[in-house]
Amino acid sequence: MAMEQQTKKSNPFTELLDLPNDSPKKTLFVAIMLCLVCSILVAISAVALKPQQLANKEADIKKNILAVTGLLADDTDVNKAFKRFEVKIVDLATGKYSDIEPNTYDQYKAAKDPARNVILTAEQDRANIRKRAKLATVYLLKENDVVKQVVLPVHGYGLWSTLYGFISLESDLNTIGGLQFYAHAETPGLGGEVDNPSWRDQWKGKKAFDDQGNVKIKLIRGKVDYTQAGAEHQIDGLSGATLTGNGVSNLVNYWLGDHGFGPYLTKMRSGTGQ
Ligand SMILES: Cc1cc2nc3c(=O)[nH]c(=O)nc-3n(C[C@H](O)[C@H](O)[C@H](O)COP(=O)(O)O)c2cc1C
Repeated sequence: MAMEQQTKKSNPFTELLDLPNDSPKKTLFVAIMLCLVCSILVAISAVALKPQQLANKEADIKKNILAVTGLLADDTDVNKAFKRFEVKIVDLATGKYSDIEPNTYDQYKAAKDPARNVILTAEQDRANIRKRAKLATVYLLKENDVVKQVVLPVHGYGLWSTLYGFISLESDLNTIGGLQFYAHAETPGLGGEVDNPSWRDQWKGKKAFDDQGNVKIKLIRGKVDYTQAGAEHQIDGLSGATLTGNGVSNLVNYWLGDHGFGPYLTKMRSGTGQ
């Protein structure tokens, strides 16, 4: 009995738990234990859910690529439909394909790596992104080995956030198939109207380039007047959100331009890009 009491006394946990409930020492002990248990639970769930999060992210990217090419319906089997795309990695400086296995490449991670990125000068940086990866992922929608649409990843700063999305070009590499953003933090109802399907719909069929090959597509103030020349290069402005709209015009211009996918599109047009 005496020995049992001695063991109980020498255990600091039991000693603390035996203190009265209003003891500051016991309160502190219980609070620390609670924090410890909660942080272990959070850490375990973060690690356990990581593969699921990555799978969801990948599925979301695939869904957006299908949406921008008009292949996404309510009942679409995303993985099956995505098999129609050939995924390639392009060296943006030369426009040539790289041998890198697309599944192993993340262009947004590469953009943060000094060995794999390019720092943009103020003049180059129309999209306000400061740096970009040297290599970018492109998605080719082919039918009988003929490219029907090319999907290009684009990103750039709006008013509050960087908008990430895809633009697709049809086989003439000028007619736009669609523009779709999958991540941004612009204000809902203002800059967030970039997600409004009726605004997005107008991109389809618009011409990205003029006859000289200059990027011409841009958002204007107000609504497009279809009786006027040049309407094929214009998109309705976002009411009350001109700053996000300017960001969208700038990022599309950057990525379709000489410092973005320009060299790749030139190669594709001349038939040497494939
Ligand atoms: C709370 C708040 C949120 C705003 N969010 C946006 C936004 O997401 N995008 C944007 O371009 N303008 C936003 N604005 C408005 C801009 O400050 C600016 O007035 C607007 O872009 C000018 O466009 P307008 O000339 O079409 O009115 C916001 C303003 C406020 C007060």
